[in-house]
Amino acid sequence: MASNEAIYQSILQIDSDLKQIQDFDLLLERILLEARKVVNADAGSIYVRDIVEENGLKLEKLAIKYSQNDTLQKKLPKGQKLAYSIFTLPIDDKSISGYCAFTKRQVNVPDAYNLAPGVPYSFGISFDQRTGYKTTSIHAFPLLTAGDKLLGVIQVINAKDKQGNVVSFSADDELLIAHFASTASNALERASITRAMILRMIRMAELRDPKETGTHVSRVAGYAVEIYDRWANLHGVSEIEKEKFRDTLKVASMLHDVGKVAISDTILKKPAKFTPEEFTIMQHHTVYGASLFDDLHSEVDNVAKDIALCHHENWDGTGYPGWVDPHTEIPIKTDSNGKPLGKKGEEIPLAGRIVALADVFDALCSSRVYKPAWSEKDVLEEIHKLRGSKFDPELTDIFFEALPNIKEIQNLYPEVKEAV
Ligand SMILES: [Fe+2]
Ligand SMILES: [Fe+2]
Repeated sequence: MASNEAIYQSILQIDSDLKQIQDFDLLLERILLEARKVVNADAGSIYVRDIVEENGLKLEKLAIKYSQNDTLQKKLPKGQKLAYSIFTLPIDDKSISGYCAFTKRQVNVPDAYNLAPGVPYSFGISFDQRTGYKTTSIHAFPLLTAGDKLLGVIQVINAKDKQGNVVSFSADDELLIAHFASTASNALERASITRAMILRMIRMAELRDPKETGTHVSRVAGYAVEIYDRWANLHGVSEIEKEKFRDTLKVASMLHDVGKVAISDTILKKPAKFTPEEFTIMQHHTVYGASLFDDLHSEVDNVAKDIALCHHENWDGTGYPGWVDPHTEIPIKTDSNGKPLGKKGEEIPLAGRIVALADVFDALCSSRVYKPAWSEKDVLEEIHKLRGSKFDPELTDIFFEALPNIKEIQNLYPEVKEAV
């Protein structure tokens, strides 16, 4: 068993690792994983403080973001992710995590089925009943800013000893967790600032094009990561490389249509289908978007450029803008008529191929002023039909495997208003 000093060292390492992660959601998932490692917990969930509107009142609640469970995960086929339900909890003394958020203090429960007498909270057994899992020890701890503002709560479940037996969380665990929580909170606060900046960029694009809502780009980014994760597992990508790329992909895919800020209002806000001439102008949003990331300060810029440029290319080479220099729009490779050739197959960067699929899926599922939302059956038939022509066939197969998780993301970011 590692000494406490070794564990503190690894918490410092986690601190520098977490600094690399730019996306808020991926950071939450990683923080939960690391928290479980620190105290050797079989399962856990992470919640964030959220403002929810109920009956015209704005309420502070805890919204679940991720759940992990090694025991249940092992029962799934390789590459499959655990499905979990989306819910919110009141910040009050009725539940263990709610109480932890309410008091901003750690709560250590040795046995969920035998709570200490006099505690105000109770244990919700519905998860155990639904899954057959047996929750015993629970430790909930708050994530607080330096100014003592609540960011969220982590609940780790079923500490395990060296033999794999479920035991209680110890006093040592409490200390380690307190140390870890401050590291995690710092990283979360920083990521939420980066996220706010990106959301501002997206809101700017949204002001120009009301179709590109914040929820649309969040869904597309979520689907893209789901597809990439499975692709990376099938292609033997290392965990470190996978984590780095999915973070970059998530941030960069949110900016896929940011080039629309350079398209005129008369076209962008036209409440009907485009004429062929208007469509040609509209296609320029790909190169305009790519040119925004031209100075390539970071890996995010690199991938954002690929995505902005290539998310309308087709696997069979019939997409746009094709082989052009995004800066000058001068064709690089041309057909016999001097027109740029479309990029095809693996000439299209992986991130572009993934976002193409995620973006079309979400657009078909959403209503537009010129079309209602398609039924799920019609959307899936269409995606299947376009396998190998518009979309990368392998990624299309992966998309269908990931469908339960993709639908979960859809529920996580519902359309807040009728898109126009
Ligand atoms: Fe686009
Ligand atoms: Fe889009």
